[in-house]
Amino acid sequence: MDELPLGRVLHGNCLEILASLPERSVDLIFADPPYNLQLQDKLFRPNMTEVIGVDEHWDQFSSFAEYDAFSRDWLGECRRILKDTGAIWVIGSYHNIFRLGTIMQDLGFWMLNDVVWVKTNPTPNFRGTRFANAHETLIWAKKDENSRYTFNYHAMKGLNEEKQMRSDWWLFPHVTGAERFLMAGQKVHSAQKPEALLYRVLLASSHPGDVVLDPFIGSGTTGVVAKRLHRQWVGIERDAEYARIAQARIDAVSPEPYDEVCFDVRGKRRKAPRVPFSMLLEAGLLQPGQPLYFRKNRELKAIIKPNARLQYGEIEDTIHLLGRRLSNSNPCNGWDHWYYQGEDGDLAPLDTLRQKLREEMDGWE
Ligand SMILES: C[S@@+](CC[C@H](N)C(=O)[O-])C[C@H]1O[C@@H](n2cnc3c(N)ncnc32)[C@H](O)[C@@H]1O
Repeated sequence: MDELPLGRVLHGNCLEILASLPERSVDLIFADPPYNLQLQDKLFRPNMTEVIGVDEHWDQFSSFAEYDAFSRDWLGECRRILKDTGAIWVIGSYHNIFRLGTIMQDLGFWMLNDVVWVKTNPTPNFRGTRFANAHETLIWAKKDENSRYTFNYHAMKGLNEEKQMRSDWWLFPHVTGAERFLMAGQKVHSAQKPEALLYRVLLASSHPGDVVLDPFIGSGTTGVVAKRLHRQWVGIERDAEYARIAQARIDAVSPEPYDEVCFDVRGKRRKAPRVPFSMLLEAGLLQPGQPLYFRKNRELKAIIKPNARLQYGEIEDTIHLLGRRLSNSNPCNGWDHWYYQGEDGDLAPLDTLRQKLREEMDGWE
């Protein structure tokens, strides 16, 4: 396919469909893959009613090796179709999330956060043999170590009473009652995710008009929220009935008309106060004589001069222009490519300090 079939749930195996999609064409991927739950026995509540969990054909793998091979294939394809500025969210439980995380790192994805979605109404552990499993984990990763990505920091603050959003998300129960998509009174999909979860994911890490892809779209939750937020979307689903239901569910959504001022939450970031590099020195967040490392490479270091320029061998230049020289004349945003060593010994991008100053400046009148 030369172009993405936007606004459609594609019916088929995501391995084949992803392979047919154009390289670097997608801004954001949300993936809720099979969990590989390996349920052996039916589970009953104390009153002997059966717990209807996820024990369906789409979740059957014969071994960890088979699951890993499948995961490596679809994650590899996802990385290929992501734009260089793209990012991926993968959600899972303790059954699969560690395997997926390892595979993602092996493929070159760069972890940004793991977010814990805490379920305020979890299914109890009826046998009393383990803790009640009350959360799922989302991995948020960018395409590689040096790539840029979208984070609507201020929008997240807006959702959190103007405090920095944290990685433990408590606010919404898993899908029950009104939100569960029902057909003829029956639960349609055992693994349907809450729209609130997708709302936060999409608002945090994409912009209106961006292309969001879900390779395991199930009942269509990702498409529903993408449409409400005016993102473009495409979904993949192997089960014909789910694919049909998801398309119908998403088609039934009529978002409020698009208005840039309202829907584009980058405004505040664009108007964020300008912070020149010299301000970090003056504020004492960096010291003259301190080394900075280019692209996290401890061999490639420059020294900060008191005049807020960098000295690299014989060359003296700004963080941006020296970065450009070190990148074969390609444009270089020094804030993202120069790293300083924090008190814990770890390297962090200069942009972290700039954000810190901006935070403080937010309180200035
Ligand atoms: C965990 S569920 C996703 C639920 C979805 N997030 C929602 O809110 O409804 C995983 C879905 O992936 C589908 N699936 C499993 N293997 C697949 C494959 N190889 N290609 C495409 N879809 C697949 C299953 O049929 C199932 O609907």
